[in-house]
Amino acid sequence: MVFAALQAKNPVLFAGARSSRELQIIELLGYKGALEVSTQDGSSGYRGLVTGLLERERGALEGYAFINCGPELFLAKACSIQKQAGSPSIRCLMERYMKCGVGLCGSCSLEGTASVWMVPALKRYGWKVFPTLDDS
Ligand code: FES
Repeated sequence: MVFAALQAKNPVLFAGARSSRELQIIELLGYKGALEVSTQDGSSGYRGLVTGLLERERGALEGYAFINCGPELFLAKACSIQKQAGSPSIRCLMERYMKCGVGLCGSCSLEGTASVWMVPALKRYGWKVFPTLDDS
């Protein structure tokens, strides 16, 4: 997400972590734009999950395009907030624990389909898939 924010025009990066220590990577990657953070232990920014921070800021989110990255429960909650805020564009990158990386172990599966092979499954659920994946 930091790399996407580095390329965006006037980005606002919302980042959530367990503690401020985990957020150091944002600075190390050279991001210097607007930043809203949440930490579960309250060591930096909003105390709680990043979806709580999004909910708190919902009134100021209208007109923003979003790129979300995280596990599906986070994505569902974030998308709901962003739709209610009137976002014209929401994209999601699903985060999964990977083990084999080639579709054998099932660790990354979503309803029986390994995420390494899931473009057809996402289309079946009506998800729009990034053009680079859609072409494969
Ligand atoms: S990581 Fe093994 S099937 Fe996806």
